[in-house]
Amino acid sequence: MKRILRLALLASAAFSAVSMQAAYALETKSESEKGIDRYRELIADGNPAELFEMEGQELWSKKAGPKNVSLEQCDLGLGPGVVKGAYVSLPRYFQDAGKVMDLEMRLAHCMRTLQGIDVKDSKYNKDDHKNIIALATFVAASSKGMPVAVPQGHSEEKRLYEVGKRVFFYRAGPYDFACATCHAQDNVRIRLQGLPNLTRNEPAGKAFTSWPAYRVGNGQLWPMQKRLNDCYRQQRFPEPVYGSEATVALQVYMGVNGKGVSSLAPALKR
Ligand code: HEC
Repeated sequence: MKRILRLALLASAAFSAVSMQAAYALETKSESEKGIDRYRELIADGNPAELFEMEGQELWSKKAGPKNVSLEQCDLGLGPGVVKGAYVSLPRYFQDAGKVMDLEMRLAHCMRTLQGIDVKDSKYNKDDHKNIIALATFVAASSKGMPVAVPQGHSEEKRLYEVGKRVFFYRAGPYDFACATCHAQDNVRIRLQGLPNLTRNEPAGKAFTSWPAYRVGNGQLWPMQKRLNDCYRQQRFPEPVYGSEATVALQVYMGVNGKGVSSLAPALKR
């Protein structure tokens, strides 16, 4: 009898230990979610992206390249040398290049034409692209809080919006995914990551103006081209050509959808 009692006690102790463990696991899950938010708050004051921003500012005003000039006369769309407000109004059509360009493409264009640098920009964070990331962060930060105003006045800008929309809804690949599969509904998430509905104004504007962002998870600073490249990977599509029309068109689509939303970049991401 005593033995049975002891066994029963042991069993119930073991049971409560297991259920405590289960409760603990449940709690730590929501705790970890809270933890991530808290972590974001804690380091938001000291976003490492600021280091890139400072580096970008230096690069902007430093003489460089075979022509030994700075980028201070670079026209990002609002006139030579105007940085404030440029980020929220790109991509846009540039007469001198005869096409719609995004921020990274335009910076590379200025490095080529003003500084005479034979820009190697197609590999993420390699060669000249390192500088482009820093410059893009500096330019983006100068528009912080400004409303998104991606223009639609030129026929090419309108065409790219339509192209972007098509690309966004285009389903293909091994899983028959489109951007829209993950980004056209409200309140969906993959694990802890919220998936913004890029067809709606506010989430589109926030997502569009979050990049360049510092990614805490891998300690990297990602500009928009890299963000899109990684989403193509998640979509199981072939890697998009850096700076290709599809990548610029997708930005026009998101930017126009996000009209008027206050710019966040540079952001801090998981
Ligand atoms: C299989 C699902 C999936 C597909 C398909 C997908 N994405 Fe994403 N996307 C994600 C996830 C997950 C995140 C969040 C990633 C993270 O936090 O690391 C994300 C993040 C983003 C962001 C940043 C959002 C923010 O708030 O900062 C943008 C912009 C984006 N995707 C655009 C696209 C575009 C454009 C396409 C199509 C070329 C696309 N995505 C296809 C899953 C997807």
